[in-house]
Amino acid sequence: MSSQRKILVTSALPYANGDIHIGHLLEYVQTDIWVRFQKSRGHQCIYVCADDTHGTPVMLRAQKEGKTPEDFIKESHQAHAQDFADCLIGFDNFHSTHSPESKELTQGIYLKLKENGHISSKTINQLFDPEKEMFLPDRFVKGTCPKCGSEDQYGDNCDACGATYSPTELKNPKSAVSGATPVLKESEHFFFDLKGFEGFLREWLGAEGHVQSEVQNKMNEWLDDLRQWDISRDAPYFGWEIPGEKGKYFYVWLDAPIGYMASFKNLCDKRDDLNFDDFWGKNSDAEVYHFIGKDIIYFHTLFWPSVLEGSGYRTPSAVWAHGFVTVNGQKMSKSKGTFIKARTYLNHFRPEFLRYYYAAKLSNRIDDFDLNLEDFVQRVNSDLVGKLVNIASRCAGFITKQFDGKLSDSIIEPELIKEFTEASEELAQHYENRDFGRAVKQIMALADKANAYIANEEPWKLVKNDDTKERAHQVCSLGINMFKILSAYLAPVLPELAGKVQDFLKLDSLNWASAQEVLTGHEINKFKPMMQRIDMKQVEAMIEDSKEDLEAEAKPEAQLDDPIKEEIQFGDFDKIDLRIAKIAKAEHVEGADKLLKLQLDLGNGVTKQVFAGIKAAYDPSTLEGKLTVMVANLAPRKMKFGMSEGMVLAAGPGGKDLWILNPDEGAKPGMRVK
Ligand code: 2FM
Ligand code: ZN
Repeated sequence: MSSQRKILVTSALPYANGDIHIGHLLEYVQTDIWVRFQKSRGHQCIYVCADDTHGTPVMLRAQKEGKTPEDFIKESHQAHAQDFADCLIGFDNFHSTHSPESKELTQGIYLKLKENGHISSKTINQLFDPEKEMFLPDRFVKGTCPKCGSEDQYGDNCDACGATYSPTELKNPKSAVSGATPVLKESEHFFFDLKGFEGFLREWLGAEGHVQSEVQNKMNEWLDDLRQWDISRDAPYFGWEIPGEKGKYFYVWLDAPIGYMASFKNLCDKRDDLNFDDFWGKNSDAEVYHFIGKDIIYFHTLFWPSVLEGSGYRTPSAVWAHGFVTVNGQKMSKSKGTFIKARTYLNHFRPEFLRYYYAAKLSNRIDDFDLNLEDFVQRVNSDLVGKLVNIASRCAGFITKQFDGKLSDSIIEPELIKEFTEASEELAQHYENRDFGRAVKQIMALADKANAYIANEEPWKLVKNDDTKERAHQVCSLGINMFKILSAYLAPVLPELAGKVQDFLKLDSLNWASAQEVLTGHEINKFKPMMQRIDMKQVEAMIEDSKEDLEAEAKPEAQLDDPIKEEIQFGDFDKIDLRIAKIAKAEHVEGADKLLKLQLDLGNGVTKQVFAGIKAAYDPSTLEGKLTVMVANLAPRKMKFGMSEGMVLAAGPGGKDLWILNPDEGAKPGMRVK
């Protein structure tokens, strides 16, 4: 093997205030496959990521949920980490930009930039929300488009006519945070001298391999128009304070990419074999690659290399961008149910199916990527189940039952197996170039060959006759060997399957080199089914679930305009018997997605059983013993899971966002609520 490379790889840091969805996953899967490939080749390849935690949206979201930003980002970190692990994204470290390493590195980099003369300050005018007492980012100002007159447009561009403008140009501007009319206010801001890096950038971007050729063309336009970059924001802001500048914070996009370094630094502190300077020092001989989406090219190919250069660090070996994910040829849509969260996907399918589909269609270009759901089902079934796993399932039974679980001592068709082993270097090139689609296509062509060979030999017939039985042994053993080689080639895409194959074939490793080892006279385990076919019904259920997610999310906004119902008379109201009830028992209902079963104690020995749609909002064990309010005289209704004899009062739009009424301790079960 060629000498061991030292490689550091990153994917873009997900914002803490959003769930991971299948659009994100394209990037994480792409990066993860590349990293697993490098590891399987024996290189030291480190994959780090972190949550992107700072900025106004996170701060406001936490406020809205009544949490501190720190608590809020802790929860989303847990959810993200779980999503990634379940999608088999094998980070070496998944850290946070709200970490001591991030603070130290960000402030240190800023001070070096300042010392080197790359920072200046000037007073600017910006829209300010007088009620919330905060400056408003462009996206938090809404008003009428100055060009076409469309209402309710963001402060930076108009969805209706596509015009871009500054928020001060909007007509009738309103703060999206409080609804107040913003006023112009002066503030001192700090700027990074991007313009001063024009010469450096022209050279860096012009050099071979730092960016894709498609990106290079775009860059020339940008390079002609470099501006000073505003890197500061005023308090209140969730982020790192600028040293020596009270009440001024670093703009989230300054510390975001530094999060790559921070995550790596955190890992270095946990591992003896890694040294931060070996990777980030000016004279580092390690390789550093950033995988990103095409929307953040500007930040990664102009700001980031300049910030590193200006503060004395090494610059990236390359920045690789991919396109956006469309579903069935269209932008992901919440109302159509094609905005699919990682968790929702995982509730319906194994992670490897999506990994395979992404790999099968990925190239190293920045074209958009279409996830066609019918094609997804079809490819998983035909390639993974019908071709790949089929090779093993056709051969393994005979080896176990007829040949004591042992492969033949020799290889019947050395030329055929050679074709499989010799594909190694070309396939490795495709992986190395991030041309996964080509690699997968070639691997599947080999799978076709293996299947055709087995079909032609018909070992199920050979095995019946004593004269040909040994040939059946040879054919099936060759089949198993071909399966092993293909599994090793696909291991970066299908790591879980690779683990199963390793167990099945009793192998110590299924790394890239292991594809060259042909198994003869080798004992194997009994074959267990490895993958099941999937169908469109599962896809439809996933789409339905994605629509439900939207309902739960959309409602908190909608309730603001939820109109008051038609007027009723006092007599109508008086018919409703509202009572304090104690939740004596709360339990899950088998088979019910939304319901909890409650036993409500109304005092005087009266209890009522109620099925309440609050499962998403409450863990039943936390409800027992609590007081609440119920409609006690609602006619009993027969529901699928039993009789419901009343109703519990709750506020909120539904789903997770639901709060049962919870009277003070002084109230007693059975008291009338008036
Ligand atoms: O666009 C985004 O989702 C950002 N959170 C990506 C940050 S990548 C890096 F610079 F931190
Ligand atoms: Zn417009």
